[in-house]
Amino acid sequence: MDLRRAVDDLAETLVVPSFTRLGYDLRSKLFDWEPVEQMPMRGRVVAVTGPTSGLGQIAAMSFARMGAEVLLLARNAAKAERVRAQIVEGTGNAGVRVYRVDMSDLSSVRRVAEEIRASEPSLDVLINNAGSLLVRRAVSVDGHEMTLATMVLGPFVLTDGLIPLLRDGADGRIITVTSGGQYAQALDLDDLQSAAQPYVGSAVYARAKRAQVVLTRVWASMLRDTSVVAHAMHPGWADTPGIEASLPRFHTVLGPLLRTPEQGVDTLLWLAAAPEAARSTGRLWLDRRPRKFDRLARTRVSPVQARRLWNACEHLTGVSPTRQA
Ligand SMILES: NC(=O)c1ccc[n+]([C@@H]2O[C@H](COP(=O)([O-])OP(=O)(O)OC[C@H]3O[C@@H](n4cnc5c(N)ncnc54)[C@H](OP(=O)(O)O)[C@@H]3O)[C@@H](O)[C@H]2O)c1
Repeated sequence: MDLRRAVDDLAETLVVPSFTRLGYDLRSKLFDWEPVEQMPMRGRVVAVTGPTSGLGQIAAMSFARMGAEVLLLARNAAKAERVRAQIVEGTGNAGVRVYRVDMSDLSSVRRVAEEIRASEPSLDVLINNAGSLLVRRAVSVDGHEMTLATMVLGPFVLTDGLIPLLRDGADGRIITVTSGGQYAQALDLDDLQSAAQPYVGSAVYARAKRAQVVLTRVWASMLRDTSVVAHAMHPGWADTPGIEASLPRFHTVLGPLLRTPEQGVDTLLWLAAAPEAARSTGRLWLDRRPRKFDRLARTRVSPVQARRLWNACEHLTGVSPTRQA
């Protein structure tokens, strides 16, 4: 095996050297990465959920700098307008448009997908990024546990609604921002709403992140004969307002070892821009290389379990993407 890959794989086995900025620094030098912002995105249209903070905000700014048209899908219109103005001023790219959506509210997600289909002639990349880690159980307007609603059901409906536009182009990409935390938890298909046991926010979050990876693999296989690929990526551990607010001790302890948000989004931008990323589908990426789906045998998801998750999403959202495959 190539020595560089062996060194990278060793870092990956050890987690901390992989997920922190050490992993980013190591791999960017080891593989002599082309700076991602030099990759052209002119003429491409990218939709980003959660663009008003952290990784999504940095990614939206970078896409604009790379020449893409950027759709900001945000729940807070005032914040989104401020971000839009900053991006336009900072990049000189006026092709930045705001769409209002609360990803936890399924009718809001359905409506925004309809608006985008009606207003945008094309869409090349969908970034499912919005998310949060909650300390206490909360319920969405539709009655679903909030983490499940925001990070699983909302993206399920949005992706379904935007696939027709993505399929119209020659090189559509669906990229979902999961978390390395997904390695720690198995799916709990008997308690998707996290109601049957004491609520542990980090575990609920990790299960939703695992569900995102499983759904990505199902999208990928459903779309295998089309021009659309679906990938999941995780950013490692990056210093964002979200991490600081939801995991304050983790944020303090890891402090200087956390990645910058720019380092956290590098692979996200690369998956959207690099020709290599369109040559495969259904993978989980960190630092521009596909990684294992599981680190622990007990978390592995069988095809039957993946199908059960998919069916549950169809049942809970009322959308049935299988029909349009
Ligand atoms: N930072 C990390 O190290 C890390 C590691 C692993 C995975 N991730 C994942 O990366 C993604 C971005 O995280 P971040 O660290 O950048 O967090 P962040 O700074 O808190 O940003 C989260 C974004 O998601 C939006 N959002 C949350 N709930 C929403 C909803 N119901 N509807 C619409 N938008 C919603 C937020 O909007 P508002 O501005 O309106 O709150 C914000 O724009 C998340 O999926 C997170 O799980 C991050």
